Amino acid sequence: MTPNPSFWRAAAIYQLYVQSFADGDGDGIGDLAGVRARLPYLASLGIDAIWFSPWYPSPRSDAGYDVADYRSIDPAFGTLADADALIAEGHALGIRTIIDIVPNHCSDQHRWFQAALAAPPGSAERARFWFRPGRGDLPPNNWQSIFGGSAWTRTTTRDGEPGEWYLHLFAPEQPDFNWANPDVRAEFEDILRFWFDRGADGVRIDSAALLSKDAALPDSAPGDSSPYTDRDDVHDIYRAWRAVSDSYQDRVLIGEIWLADAARLARYLRRDELHTVFNFPYLCCPWDAAELRAVIDSTMEFHAAAGAPPTWVLSNHDVDRHVSRYGRADTSFGLDRRDHSQPVDLELGTRRARAAALLTMALPGSVYVYQGEELGLWEVEDIPDERRQDPIWHRTGGADPGRDGSRVPLPWSGQEPPFGFSPPATSQGPWLPQPKEWRELTVEAEAGQPDSMLELYRRALHIRRAELALDDTQAMTWLPAPDGVLAFARGRPRQPSLRG
Ligand code: NOJ
Repeated sequence: MTPNPSFWRAAAIYQLYVQSFADGDGDGIGDLAGVRARLPYLASLGIDAIWFSPWYPSPRSDAGYDVADYRSIDPAFGTLADADALIAEGHALGIRTIIDIVPNHCSDQHRWFQAALAAPPGSAERARFWFRPGRGDLPPNNWQSIFGGSAWTRTTTRDGEPGEWYLHLFAPEQPDFNWANPDVRAEFEDILRFWFDRGADGVRIDSAALLSKDAALPDSAPGDSSPYTDRDDVHDIYRAWRAVSDSYQDRVLIGEIWLADAARLARYLRRDELHTVFNFPYLCCPWDAAELRAVIDSTMEFHAAAGAPPTWVLSNHDVDRHVSRYGRADTSFGLDRRDHSQPVDLELGTRRARAAALLTMALPGSVYVYQGEELGLWEVEDIPDERRQDPIWHRTGGADPGRDGSRVPLPWSGQEPPFGFSPPATSQGPWLPQPKEWRELTVEAEAGQPDSMLELYRRALHIRRAELALDDTQAMTWLPAPDGVLAFARGRPRQPSLRG
């Protein structure tokens, strides 16, 4: 791999959701063997790095974001040796590896949490998490889980009596770490070193703004500052992480931070903290030229002030795929209002997605491609209830359809499910059902078809790499354009010629 201290400033990063990318062993779940076999596909797409969604051992109560062991690979995906080989094979093709670190919480099967459950109240084991007595029969405070319901679950003592409660901002199977505890800090700095030593080039930090909590655990009230989001002392954690990453060459720290306030977001980009953050205002923006231009301007402005390159993202595993979003009457998106009741015009959504891809890839900074968007996949809204896996769907009693529809396994080839996702003659179907209409959206069907989404992505990524990524001036200039049209130039304006 050629050293490049700032590869992340203009990289095209492919989000690879392992369980849905390619199944090498025929169990209906994607794995590292499947990825290794498809690396040439990713190289020919023209990406610079892969971000792997969590690949660690996990009971998968939240699709792998419930990590049982941060230094190993889920046996359903492969082994640590497979991960080492994948990192090396990626490097040989010029593709860097970014791993997903989940520091806010672990799995309830993690050895520390199991030890905490076995230890008494007030123990050192429990101090790594947030265990508290309740208020009578009520939880310690009124905090709500982001997935629905209370953020507290009560334990049972060895005698079968109701015991202390523990905090989980997500599912009960995801206990929150107490980041005021020095063991937790030391452990994660060591986990970073573990993966950097194995050749990982960067880290995507899950739920990065949630780690620090108000230790008094006050009730949260509308209008008050949040007792667990974006607290000032969370930045100390990232300063320490930056010192770790700076002790290696060419490593990047990327924050998953959903904050509406640009000034607060910019604080994570200070020179001794994270290198980049995801740009969710851009993802959530409706398909409207003026609104997109305003988001692009504000993104450019606060990144320029912070001295960091912007990032651009249209889809990921938590949001409705943008072909579907852009095909609805309301094209905006918010995590709290996933609306599958609106009719979707897929043809319109696909046309807009093509334009969105070209816009995104022409902007200065780094871009993300969520697996399958290069094929024009849409949100699968009709997954049968009994096949749904997402805790959001379960914990809201189906009121929120959840995220399964964006996580359906990729179609690679053929006319019938599993569309080459699993090896031929596999009896185990994909872990989520694929729509039969995806036969038109397989890699095989689109490859070499000049009008396909796949060829549009390939061409755009190659042009971007050849022309735009090289231009690291970050400059862009809006050009005059009729209403409803965005036109801009990249690079600094040319010096006027001295000759007439
Ligand atoms: C953000 C991740 O992207 C999402 O998938 C996950 O459920 C939560 N963090 C909790 O880890």
